[in-house]
Amino acid sequence: MKSHKKFHKTCRPIKVINVVGARPNFMKIAPIMREMSKYPQNFVQLLVHTGQHYDNEMSKFFFDDLGLPMPDIYLGVGSETHAVQTGKIMIEFDKVCYQKKPDLIIVVGDVNSTVACAIVAAKLCIPVAHIEAGLRSFDRTMPEEINRMLTDQISDYLFTTCEDANQNLIREGIPKSKIFFVGNVMIDTLLNHINMAKESFILERLGLRTNNNVRKYAVVTLHRPSNVDDPIILKVILNALNSLAKKLPVVFPAHPRTTKHIMDFKLKDMLSYEKSFSTKAFNRSYKNILILPPLGYLDFLSLMSNAKIVLTDSGGIQEETTLLGIPCLTLRNNTERPITVKEGTNILVGNDPDKIRNTSIKILKDGIPPKKIPKYWDGRAAERIIKFLSIKV
Ligand code: UD1
Repeated sequence: MKSHKKFHKTCRPIKVINVVGARPNFMKIAPIMREMSKYPQNFVQLLVHTGQHYDNEMSKFFFDDLGLPMPDIYLGVGSETHAVQTGKIMIEFDKVCYQKKPDLIIVVGDVNSTVACAIVAAKLCIPVAHIEAGLRSFDRTMPEEINRMLTDQISDYLFTTCEDANQNLIREGIPKSKIFFVGNVMIDTLLNHINMAKESFILERLGLRTNNNVRKYAVVTLHRPSNVDDPIILKVILNALNSLAKKLPVVFPAHPRTTKHIMDFKLKDMLSYEKSFSTKAFNRSYKNILILPPLGYLDFLSLMSNAKIVLTDSGGIQEETTLLGIPCLTLRNNTERPITVKEGTNILVGNDPDKIRNTSIKILKDGIPPKKIPKYWDGRAAERIIKFLSIKV
């Protein structure tokens, strides 16, 4: 194991472990791995999947769509409380580090797998690169905020997506020499796949496109505990979405946690339910929100990029809609991605039903003013990151 946290100039390639665990990690690591594979003289890479997400719809289908290699090591931790899940990942990842002796660990985003593996690496004095560093919601009730803050404090290379992230890190005492403003790897993946997504048949299968005519529709995603864990809040949100569904079809690919709560809270009758796509759905009309299983990356990208409006509590979707120029209502009171509000198409509406209804209806009627694409969201973030890491080799 290395005894101090600096790369040494060596004549061998450095051994990198890329860590993924949950759905939003896969889109972020894909461009990094692709770019790194262009420099075999500089890097040998392994992919570790913690197993935080394990259902095919939450994991394997993304590997297929994104052309990611099979993980070299699968930790299989599964779902648990935060402490148990984080602890299990640490125990298993520690063994991997002792066995593989990596020179660098790359972690992405803000999920439990991110912080767990960063802590293990830092304790073993293995350098850590954190991709998507510095984002802050300033809301410590969000588990992701804790993950972001801790990961950034112990990382050696902090790659950021926007200027406000740089400022957050500096305010928290991170030396400027560790911060690298490179752009957004999630956007690299979107731009790499947007043409492939045009081949998706999801719109036809849902009856949303016939003979090149795309119907107006809305897309919804919800999975944050603050929106889906309380039966009263979830019911209020579904009610607001159902009144929007009177104006246009509302398609809701649901996270397993959300589906489970809809069933447990006996809210199923508020939704139309599509179990699978085995049935033909041409020209179908739904009387209320259509709930679907989680979609793969390309189907979801196709659905999102043709939508009139997106309503979400996801972090990544706020960025993707900004890039695509699609209006996005975020069902949260804060965001760690304020640039999507300042420069992009994002509007925060919390979970107030009147605000959700009225803002959606206004946007459907008036649209939104022209927006900017944030600096460096240009499809070249991974290139900048790997160029930087290559110099360090
Ligand atoms: C996690 C991330 C969140 C991210 C989200 C994307 C943390 C703290 N949260 O939240 O930041 O936005 O992933 O999806 O890391 N489940 C399944 N199948 C799966 C995975 C999960 O059924 O493959 C169910 C289980 O009931 C599980 C629940 O979903 O308990 C929550 O999963 P978990 O990984 O703990 O958190 P997410 O809500 O997915």
